[in-house]
Amino acid sequence: MPCFTMLPQSFLLFLLLITIPTSMSDSFDNGPRYDYGFRNDDGFFAGELLLWGVASTTSGALELTSSVRQSTGHAFHQRSLGPVSSFSATFVFLIIPPENLDGLSGHGIAFTLSTKTEFMFSALPSQYLGILDAENNGNVTNQLFAVEFDTVQNHEFEDIDDNHVGIDVNSMVSINSHTAGYYTANGTFAPLRLASGEPMQVWMDYDGNSHNLNVSLAPYLKQKPQRPLLSSTVNLTSVLGNDSFYAGFSSATGALWSNHYIIGWSFNTTGEAQLVNYTGMSQVIENVRQKIDDGQEAHRSNNQRGIVLPIIIPTVFVILVIPAVVYVLKKKAGKNGRWEIECGTPSFTYKDLATATRSFSDTMVLGKGGFGKVYKGVLQTSKQIVAIKRVSPESMQGMKEFIAEITILGQLRHRNLVQLLGYSRHKNELLLVYDYMPNGSLDRVLHGQDRQVLDWVYRLNIIKGIASGLFYLHEDWEKVVIHRDIKTSNVLLDCEMKARLSDFGLARLHNHGTDAHTTRFAGTWGYIAPELARLGRATKETDVFAFGVVMLEVACGRRPIEVNNSGEPVLLTDWVLHAWESGSVLMTVDPRLEDYIREEVELVLKLGLLCSHSVPSARPCMRLVMQYLEKDVPLPDFQPCFFSITIRDDGVDQYIMPFTSVATATGGLSGGR
Ligand SMILES: *[C@@H]1O[C@H](CO)[C@@H](O)[C@H](O)[C@H]1NC(C)=O
Ligand SMILES: *[C@@H]1O[C@H](CO)[C@@H](O)[C@H](O)[C@H]1NC(C)=O
Ligand SMILES: *[C@@H]1O[C@H](CO)[C@@H](O)[C@H](O)[C@H]1NC(C)=O
Ligand SMILES: *[C@@H]1O[C@H](CO)[C@@H](O)[C@H](O)[C@H]1NC(C)=O
Ligand SMILES: *[C@@H]1O[C@H](CO)[C@@H](O)[C@H](O)[C@H]1NC(C)=O
Ligand SMILES: *[C@@H]1O[C@H](CO)[C@@H](O)[C@H](O)[C@H]1NC(C)=O
Ligand SMILES: *[C@@H]1O[C@H](CO)[C@@H](O)[C@H](O)[C@H]1NC(C)=O
Repeated sequence: MPCFTMLPQSFLLFLLLITIPTSMSDSFDNGPRYDYGFRNDDGFFAGELLLWGVASTTSGALELTSSVRQSTGHAFHQRSLGPVSSFSATFVFLIIPPENLDGLSGHGIAFTLSTKTEFMFSALPSQYLGILDAENNGNVTNQLFAVEFDTVQNHEFEDIDDNHVGIDVNSMVSINSHTAGYYTANGTFAPLRLASGEPMQVWMDYDGNSHNLNVSLAPYLKQKPQRPLLSSTVNLTSVLGNDSFYAGFSSATGALWSNHYIIGWSFNTTGEAQLVNYTGMSQVIENVRQKIDDGQEAHRSNNQRGIVLPIIIPTVFVILVIPAVVYVLKKKAGKNGRWEIECGTPSFTYKDLATATRSFSDTMVLGKGGFGKVYKGVLQTSKQIVAIKRVSPESMQGMKEFIAEITILGQLRHRNLVQLLGYSRHKNELLLVYDYMPNGSLDRVLHGQDRQVLDWVYRLNIIKGIASGLFYLHEDWEKVVIHRDIKTSNVLLDCEMKARLSDFGLARLHNHGTDAHTTRFAGTWGYIAPELARLGRATKETDVFAFGVVMLEVACGRRPIEVNNSGEPVLLTDWVLHAWESGSVLMTVDPRLEDYIREEVELVLKLGLLCSHSVPSARPCMRLVMQYLEKDVPLPDFQPCFFSITIRDDGVDQYIMPFTSVATATGGLSGGR
């Protein structure tokens, strides 16, 4: 596995297929019955489950996820059911949030009915709960029905809050949802906290004739509420078709995590599903809690030992089955302790990361950026290779906001972004853990010592990749994320030489806590739009400007600012524009490029100029940039003089027309190329 990313596919390796005892097969047909907990010791129910990802049966319970971040766990009953008809299901779940995280928990459990089980190979963790991914979300071909018990609010999926139950049909956007809780006998609503560490029971009833579906929730050992929490009409036949389907559970962790458990489960197609042995289940719940307490106790004493003894770096790594097992950082005394209660416990301990980088040895330094050094690290437990960035926010106040933002950044997920895996805090510095990118930065590939020549095909793909990542940040995600520091050294290349944007959002975070009136803008000379230099405010347009410079840099193989023969600094944009004015824009193409398609290079050069136009309103938005690059929309046929429009010192020139009208005008005037 050359690419050490935590793709859910990698969990295929951990597929646990427990064979069904032959004696069980007959009773299934008479009405499936799987309750009493998932006992490993006597193999009573564990034998009927297919487990994927980090799911396992432990202490008589089904553990869907443990404290592993960015992970998914799936469990399905081995026998398929169907075609779908009326059914009744009930189960008891338990979500144990991490210690000292002030109830913060991620991401939840989904009860699923699906015609396929393969989805767990591609489904994403975090907000996707291990059931869908960005590509198939909302597609009817998923044939997936789920009831989500979601503990994180995602505006992207129109989540109502961070503690809700929702009915999902082929999509993460619920067709009906309600804050977790139940209606008491007198009709009042009693709210419940899903991630309270307390067990709860769920009931689901589906009428195959009326297509009425009810979902209820109540504290463990309480009666089934008379009035359901959710009642919807869902034609499950149209969702699942006439095919057979699988019933089961999915759960996921992200930047936030929880231990998610199913204690007991019963599914009945001939009558009301009932859990029978509550005595047995109570015992299982006790066992699970005991196990978690023991684990935390063990980590506490380990950490204490770690403080007393010097850290000796082991050279032989222990190979474990589960990737990236991360530990709850011990609650620290005094002011640090308070901070952690407020802001959450880091996912990786400082010790883990110190070990991974040989105590932040200089030999492990990958690079140095505006925020500090970046180290290569090998996580001891999983042997996963990661990149660890050491950042020092300017104040403790800034640190707190930093963490809040990091939690959000951990949810960003795109094939052209470097995935944030987690973080750790140590004194007044933050350690951010990212996927490791084996091919380094675009800056190094373009301008590095070895002057490795990157073919045009790769260059164009890299440009498209950056555009796609930036489009996601600007327009495709729930919040607008301004990158603020687009440059070739922030574009990393993965094992397939595809572009991945790094450091998104960090520039703004870095400024948190500083006085608003003296906020220094972040950015790198050569990539800074004129209005950013004047007004200090980063916008989507200032990102587009920097992206335009990157496009030119990639096509020309030159830095944004180079010194000419007479020792004067020359802006790349001016140089390209000048070449265009005095003949052909193609004169600026990187002379090392041997094979390229003239039209493509010309498009990139002209689009690069357009993106880095000095007038913000003349720059296209990222959606349009993508369309130009994909040749879905032809680039308007403007002339070099279009770039001579500038901004006067006293503000925006009154005579500048927005780009669309200029484009139409120039496009109409000059025929075709
Ligand atoms: C839905 O998924 C199918 C099969 O994966 C695919 O062919 C189709 O293009 C998808 N539809 C949409 C709207 O994405
Ligand atoms: C309804 O019942 C709950 C307990 O089941 C009780 O706490 C609440 O006060 C009752 N409300 C009314 C209006 O009677
Ligand atoms: C759902 O609940 C409503 C109201 O309590 C009830 O009338 C209906 O029969 C229930 N449907 C099912 C499938 O149990
Ligand atoms: C439910 O969906 C199936 C399959 O699409 C369809 O044949 C049936 O008529 C639908 N039932 C209702 C009540 O809409
Ligand atoms: C399911 O089967 C029924 C009866 O065999 C048929 O009427 C219906 O069209 C089928 N629906 C689908 C979605 O295949
Ligand atoms: C399913 O329902 C039937 C009829 O009410 C009942 O006899 C049977 O015990 C139920 N099975 C389970 C597992 O709840
Ligand atoms: C319920 O579970 C407990 C603990 O596993 C066991 O001792 C007891 O026999 C079970 N009771 C029934 C009725 O199955």
